[in-house]
Amino acid sequence: MSEKVNIAVFVSGMGTNIGAIYNACKKKKYPAHIKLVISNKNCNAYQLSKRLMLNTKLIKNSNNNFEEIINKYLIDYEIELICLAGFMKILSPSFTKIWKNRILNIHPSLLPFFPGLNVFEKFSNSGMKIHGSTVHIVNEKIDSGKILSQLAIPVSENEKRNTILRKLKRLENDLYVETIKQYIYKKFYPNKKSPSNKKRNSYNEFIISM
Ligand code: GRF
Repeated sequence: MSEKVNIAVFVSGMGTNIGAIYNACKKKKYPAHIKLVISNKNCNAYQLSKRLMLNTKLIKNSNNNFEEIINKYLIDYEIELICLAGFMKILSPSFTKIWKNRILNIHPSLLPFFPGLNVFEKFSNSGMKIHGSTVHIVNEKIDSGKILSQLAIPVSENEKRNTILRKLKRLENDLYVETIKQYIYKKFYPNKKSPSNKKRNSYNEFIISM
């Protein structure tokens, strides 16, 4: 892959996804290059991004013209695709309209189940035995854009919250990296074949618990 697509990663959290995306982007064949990182708080992801010497901007929510500032950076750095990775701020409909089909997000549930906040609590209360993660296109409604990929994990009765979340996190990092790659090929290089079409499914058994 000679030319890479310029991506911006928006973060507010732990930074596992940006870490995984960074590692992928280091590979010659991966079709993306992290040109910009936007964080709205001084979080782990922000610190990690700085340590990795990425072009990192801290723009706090208190900024009145938050989106204007971001937009300017996105244009200045010729960003072609935005990847939200745990970004805890809702983007306005006018912003998502400008960047239509150019913003991806990863959400830690099997959408359309459990959009929004407090996902794990919603999942626990639902009694569902399968949990998962979804990568989708961002539109003007929260966690409602076109679903691009999902992974599912079985959850047994006695499994602890942290164990489930850790399992999900590890898998969702891979899911995001792979989905970004596939999406870039589809959108920016429709005539080229994506090098791999890795499918991962860790849900392969009946789960019966009463
Ligand atoms: C992930 O669980 C993602 O699904 C959700 O926010 C979390 C971000 O994690 N949208 P990290 O900051 O990338 O570790």
